[in-house]
Amino acid sequence: MRVSVLAGDGIGPEVIEPALAELPQGTEVVRIDAGAERFLATGELITDADLDAIKGSDALLFGAIGDPRVPDGVLERGVLLRLRKELDLYINLRPFPELGLTFVRENSEGPYAGVGERTADLATETSINTRKGIERCIRFAFDFAAKRGERLHLVHKTNVMTYAGGLWREVFDEVAAEFEDVETGYEHVDAAAYHLVTDRDRFQVIVTDNLFGDILSDLAAGIAGGLGKAASANLHPDASTRPSRCLGLFEPVHGSAPDIAGTGTADPTAAIRATQMMLEELEKESAKA
Ligand code: IPM
Ligand code: MN
Repeated sequence: MRVSVLAGDGIGPEVIEPALAELPQGTEVVRIDAGAERFLATGELITDADLDAIKGSDALLFGAIGDPRVPDGVLERGVLLRLRKELDLYINLRPFPELGLTFVRENSEGPYAGVGERTADLATETSINTRKGIERCIRFAFDFAAKRGERLHLVHKTNVMTYAGGLWREVFDEVAAEFEDVETGYEHVDAAAYHLVTDRDRFQVIVTDNLFGDILSDLAAGIAGGLGKAASANLHPDASTRPSRCLGLFEPVHGSAPDIAGTGTADPTAAIRATQMMLEELEKESAKA
């Protein structure tokens, strides 16, 4: 087994080092030194050599990215979002076992697509939603909920985002017809945020858009006891369409936390859990083969 490790910025290296102890003996570790330090020294974000190494690995373990010395978005888009795109990791699976809740976050489109423009007086940020992109995410979520015998909620904002929400709803209802045993529900994202705090037992699996999933999973982490514990798996689940050997990028939900970097107080639990998720997914994959 070969695993790439990109520890990254801030507390990334501090939480990844203890997580590496989870790897079975004999695992080949390939270090990728992308991040703020290298960017500031050389201007490089992800090099061709980084990509080749990652694509030649079974999985990528990722620490965190982001640094106050670099303008917002440069590292996030240039490293993390670039990798999600290159590896076509269209599922962001965020389990909160303490809450009996799992998010299936669409991970390749929506407002993260990078479509928009900025002039002195105008800024647009276009949410891209393709039927193909929505459907593969929703199908994964139905499969996931069906296997676990759990309820599945779609969360969106169909009362305002009528174009995007309309297509999500349509595809959700179409796929639901194929999964008669899965109990389903729909909530607007504002109501879902409220109910996650006041009545969270109503949710078991939530499938949602990229940005809503980003926000609600931090909310869930807050309820579950802190960002220090939450882990996530960025996956391209189906081997037949996977663009490379790499089945996913596994990371803590938290960021680089530059304010506490170097103080020795970062909680490695999320990185350890991300490593465990990686090993579980690799195990499932080899069971299939
Ligand atoms: C996450 C992070 C990223 C995201 C950032 C760092 C680009 O917040 O993985 O949740 O917004 O997806
Ligand atoms: Mn986030």
